Amino acid sequence: MQTELSKRLGLEHAVFGFTPFPAVAAAISRAGGFGVLGAVRYTAPDDLKRDLDWIEAHAEGRPYGLDVVMPAKRVEGVTEADVEAVIPAGHREFVRETLAKYGVPELAEGEASGWRITGWMEQVARTQLDVAFDYPIRLLANALGSPPADVVARAHDRDLLVAALAGSARHARKHQEAGIDVVVAQGYEAGGHTGEIASMVLTPEVVDAVDPLPVLAAGGIGSGQQVAAALALGAQGVWLGSIWLTTTEADLHSPALTRKLLAAGSGDTVRSRALTGKPARQLRTEWTDAWDDPAGPGTLPMPLQGLLVADAVSRIRKYEVDPLLGTPVGQIVGRMTGERSVQAVFDDLTRGFERAVERVNRIAGRSGAS
Ligand SMILES: Cc1cc2nc3c(=O)[nH]c(=O)nc-3n(C[C@H](O)[C@H](O)[C@H](O)COP(=O)(O)O)c2cc1C
Repeated sequence: MQTELSKRLGLEHAVFGFTPFPAVAAAISRAGGFGVLGAVRYTAPDDLKRDLDWIEAHAEGRPYGLDVVMPAKRVEGVTEADVEAVIPAGHREFVRETLAKYGVPELAEGEASGWRITGWMEQVARTQLDVAFDYPIRLLANALGSPPADVVARAHDRDLLVAALAGSARHARKHQEAGIDVVVAQGYEAGGHTGEIASMVLTPEVVDAVDPLPVLAAGGIGSGQQVAAALALGAQGVWLGSIWLTTTEADLHSPALTRKLLAAGSGDTVRSRALTGKPARQLRTEWTDAWDDPAGPGTLPMPLQGLLVADAVSRIRKYEVDPLLGTPVGQIVGRMTGERSVQAVFDDLTRGFERAVERVNRIAGRSGAS
């Protein structure tokens, strides 16, 4: 599974893996892919330093990258407290009532919510970059739009590739104009924030729109057949997020959540604004149903919704309140049926890829096909 881009980065396989877990990122890089650590949850620079040190010590010198969330629209000088102040009382009451209905216990006195939105604020993302630029990362990715011009320039000064996620050809062209080096075309099937266009349609559209920039296909990929399909659509590699959630190296801190993911089918996710205020694919739960119910108050725009539900999500996770327990995950969750190591995922991807290529050659009557 080699492409021009994977060769340029010295990879064995053109498989890029987004993950919030340092152990998964290092394992992806060790397996011959490219691990990308999601930085959004690091609000303290020292925590990010600690985890980048860990990756450095465990990636065996293989390349890896960092993903930050810098929203395209900049809001200057606004603090988390300013944002909190405009959350309507009725929405807070709805959260309280919903948690009470399911008997979700309170966090202990002084216990901080494990999930904050501040990583989505540009000033926080910039502190993450100040830390990360001291490490030999090879790629910087941005989730919500093109990163600001000075960030692209800083990354290029350090010889980093800059990648950005796009859910449409229009977004992809904007990235190209902003000097981005790699576009991640993320289809509707994907876990996390997604647009409305499926990967099968989006990938070739983006490939054609930004040619000759390399494109990585993301969304709904979890098998070697799908990797082969992505390359056939013109992608220079694949970018996977969901599949790592049930690897043995992942640390979800919730056996009940892992069980739910392993049991879920491809129809058990929903694209909902419940978590962040922007449509994000996640497990469908009674929590997402409550927010998506027209009889309820509806969700607030980003970043208000994220702030509103941060403590609630932490409580639901901590106490593993089953009907409400969820996570961002894509439709590929239906193929995540057993816990396995990152290396086992790679073995499966490479074997499946070879089989798919052989099959296409056979069907097309190519010489040399078995
Ligand atoms: C749990 C989870 C969290 C995610 N968080 C981010 C994020 O912080 N930044 C980002 O660029 N993408 C994020 N994504 C999206 C992934 O980078 C990736 O594009 C997506 O998972 C690919 O589709 P797949 O889920 O079908 O593999 C997240 C995905 C998941 C499953």
